[in-house]
Amino acid sequence: MSSKKTQSKAKGSNTLHPETRALHDGWHPDKPGAPIVPSWDPSSVFRHPDHGLSGDSWSYSRLANPNRDQLEKTLTSLESGADALVFASGMAAVQAMFHILSPGDHVLLPDDLYHGVRNLINDQYERWGLTFDFVDMTRPDEVGRAATDRTRMLWMETPSNPMLKITDIMALSKLARENGWISVVDNTWTTPAVQRPLELGADIALYSTTKYLGGHSDVLGGALVLRKPDQIPGGDNENTPAGRLRTLQRQAGAVPSPFDCWLMLRSLKTLFVRIRTQTVSAQRIAEKLTGHADVEKVYYPGLQDHPGHQIAGAQMDLPGAMISFQVTGDDETALRAVSASRLIIPATSLGGVESTWEHRKTSEYEGTATPGNLIRLSVGLEHPEDIWNDIEQSLKRCRLR
Ligand SMILES: Cc1ncc(COP(=O)(O)O)c(C=O)c1O
Repeated sequence: MSSKKTQSKAKGSNTLHPETRALHDGWHPDKPGAPIVPSWDPSSVFRHPDHGLSGDSWSYSRLANPNRDQLEKTLTSLESGADALVFASGMAAVQAMFHILSPGDHVLLPDDLYHGVRNLINDQYERWGLTFDFVDMTRPDEVGRAATDRTRMLWMETPSNPMLKITDIMALSKLARENGWISVVDNTWTTPAVQRPLELGADIALYSTTKYLGGHSDVLGGALVLRKPDQIPGGDNENTPAGRLRTLQRQAGAVPSPFDCWLMLRSLKTLFVRIRTQTVSAQRIAEKLTGHADVEKVYYPGLQDHPGHQIAGAQMDLPGAMISFQVTGDDETALRAVSASRLIIPATSLGGVESTWEHRKTSEYEGTATPGNLIRLSVGLEHPEDIWNDIEQSLKRCRLR
């Protein structure tokens, strides 16, 4: 069995393009007879070296293991970060972020964000004495006004879920830095292949790797990619947020299994081609939806009339493959359209190779501001004409009934 030090990586990896690093940074066979694909190491326990424990060897799988190390190394590289921590789900990564705060601390979050984060805050963290404000992050002046002297963290999600609002990561990360707040970007909808928050000045990029990074709807996971510990506000040399997050990951143990890490690393190899193809299709579909008689409004940052189009163009390499649109009609019309599809799968979640869509309001919490006639579409890898034909026939059938 190899030690941490003998895990291989391509020579001169730092000069390679991210697409290449996604294939070679976690594992590169550099010895004759070495497998092209890394082994899956299911062991939960590892033999100690002769003179007891050492930082150069694995000991217990909750703390670290070969497959997790390979995945964390690749994610760190794709995001040009200093470190990455992987978790058993996106929400476990979210939870870790709130756990490093203290009672009385205040967090600024977007008014439109993944509803699971809002539910976690309302159901769990208010009891713990954390305080929160939800603000329109497209208005940096509002963000400044909502801050208090106990604000510790600024949470961004861009494009937001489900309204695809675009937040200026560079401007808000600067505001956070000036005020000593930790800036976090939930980058689940874009991935490092499209948008790299750390390069735009944010401290931490957060992922539900369940979505595009996994890409095949067959593995749950989460990740935090971090800039250097001394660059993240909120700690001193002994007790940094980065250090607290790593300790929390190991102590609390909400970690993915070695097989989940192995699957995730396999998926990262095709991330760039998947998301590029899916985005080309999404752009075509968003354009066709615009102006369709049965569609009231389309939300997609690749459209010129999207209010965040310019900022999206500056901070995203591509507009991504998620589209929301409101049908002409009410909740019933949208529900009927989603059920009328023959190809697009009515399902929650997103980022898989199969196209999925859902009536978003029914997936969210009571009192959500998401319009009742809104459908959220995750464009997959099917031929775009087949996806479009299915949308058209679904919109037609929902009118006929
Ligand atoms: C933007 C975003 N962040 C976080 C999560 C939570 O991830 P997970 O379901 O892997 O816990 C989701 C899940 O849908 C999401 O869409």
